[in-house]
Amino acid sequence: MEKHVLALQLSHMLGEKFTREWIYENIEVPKQERMGDLAFPCFKLAPAFRKSPQEIARELSPQLKHDLFERVQPVSGYINIFLNQEFTTEHTLKQILTERASYGMHRFGEGKTVVIDLSAPNIAKPFSMGHLRSTVIGNALSNLAEHCGYKTVKINYIGDYGTQFGKLLAAYKMWGDEESVKSNPIAELKKIYVRFHEEAKENPELIETGRGWFKKLEHQDEEAVTLWKWFKDASLEEFDKIYELLGIEFDLTRGEAYYNDKMKATIDLLKRHHLLAESEGAQVVHLDKEGLPPCLITKSDGTTIYATRDLTAAIDRYGSYSFDEALYVVGHEQSLHFQQIKQVLGKLHFPWAQDVKHISFGMMLQDGAKMSTRRGKTILLENVLKEAIQHAKVNIEEKNPELENKEEAARQVGVGAVIFHDLKNDRRNDVEFSLSDMLTFEGNTAPYLQYAFVRACSLLQKGAFDPYTADPDLNDENAWPLIKQLRVFPQIVEAAYKEYDPSKVAKYLLELARLFNQYYTHTKILEGEQLQKKLTLVYGFSIVIKKGLHLLGIEAPKKM
Ligand code: ARG
Repeated sequence: MEKHVLALQLSHMLGEKFTREWIYENIEVPKQERMGDLAFPCFKLAPAFRKSPQEIARELSPQLKHDLFERVQPVSGYINIFLNQEFTTEHTLKQILTERASYGMHRFGEGKTVVIDLSAPNIAKPFSMGHLRSTVIGNALSNLAEHCGYKTVKINYIGDYGTQFGKLLAAYKMWGDEESVKSNPIAELKKIYVRFHEEAKENPELIETGRGWFKKLEHQDEEAVTLWKWFKDASLEEFDKIYELLGIEFDLTRGEAYYNDKMKATIDLLKRHHLLAESEGAQVVHLDKEGLPPCLITKSDGTTIYATRDLTAAIDRYGSYSFDEALYVVGHEQSLHFQQIKQVLGKLHFPWAQDVKHISFGMMLQDGAKMSTRRGKTILLENVLKEAIQHAKVNIEEKNPELENKEEAARQVGVGAVIFHDLKNDRRNDVEFSLSDMLTFEGNTAPYLQYAFVRACSLLQKGAFDPYTADPDLNDENAWPLIKQLRVFPQIVEAAYKEYDPSKVAKYLLELARLFNQYYTHTKILEGEQLQKKLTLVYGFSIVIKKGLHLLGIEAPKKM
């Protein structure tokens, strides 16, 4: 709100050369408190006005006036603004009271659609840590986008096609056992797939057999298709268990294979644009000018590949949704692939190619090394989630044995711990997998935030707080840091979406909970004067922490 007030007032003063949006974007929050609550740097104005930034700040400062502003001070080229405590407190609490779960919403995404490609595990393979990262980051971005007004479409682009399925079919025909696959599909299929690779080292003919089965699949051979469908359905069933634990749903689950009969149109389009070139029997799009290696479209044996399917899927998605942004939440080892896709779409003159964005993330490391499925040492995600839930349950059992619905609370706490462990880091960084770190219920974890929410709920209940008669007119010096933190929530949501960085919200929540706990320690909330007014602040805190956790995809039990 104060950012909008400031931008509006400055835009009236600065005239046409600087738009209100530009001014808004340039408003800063000073790192040091003594520099004020907001600051506007005047350096970029200097050339236009042919004055020094210092002079401009000195001239503009006295003209800025609003009830929200306590003091406006020019300091070395900056306009520093201090907010009026009383007015801001009342204004903030009133706003949270009326907006509740809509607090922090924006309208800049209204009328726009964001398509998010997330999760995308591969059938017949375990759901990896990388897929977990994609799932939770993508889901948080989707929630943030919605809070900014966008319509979102979450697509789970299952890896259900490629030459590896020829190998898998061959392996199943040689060593597969129906009953074992039925009872434990992913583990069993993985086992025979690994065996295929091992035996192929000794016996290279196997590779040919695998190729043969892939050809059969490509040509819709009945047996091949039936087996493949079975593997797919069984895998999806396993993945669904994970999605259910995580509490995540998709708008569309559509695998790579869906595009098989649609790729010809893409290849024709590339031909019409004279983009296809022959290279050692394969068809490629050269990207020398773009400084990239060629993008492979069809292999020498005529089979299509990953890139061709992604191009086709992108074109299809634009046709269905006319998206304003298409986000691909995929590990950074696929950076080159997505650069190539974007460039090829650009060469096809699709204006929306520039709205295709690879939202990359780092690896999940185990003792400093990449966790890999092939070494067979992968920690199974489902087990991680179950262990986290179990741990939460033991904890609840200890602290609150009387609690109703222990199972549900344990799920929310355990799963929340796993999600937060991922989202609290900048997504581009690698994350060290540590079950014990995730599950510490003190420190920078989800349970720490959830506990703060529980504490707030319990205060509200004990104080018989009623939001309908709440009084936001709190006058309490100790509450100021917490109020200011509540106040910046909308800005954090905006920045987190615009920079595709959910960790901004995670870090914000840790500081919010810290300030709340500090207030709780120093102030006897349920005693003395202004009791209901203090509870209004507690209520405000409860709304914002719950909303913030929800944006990250984490639930907040009222009791735990
Ligand atoms: N299934 C792929 C993998 O596990 C990820 C797919 C990502 N999405 C995409 N549109 N390419 O590596």
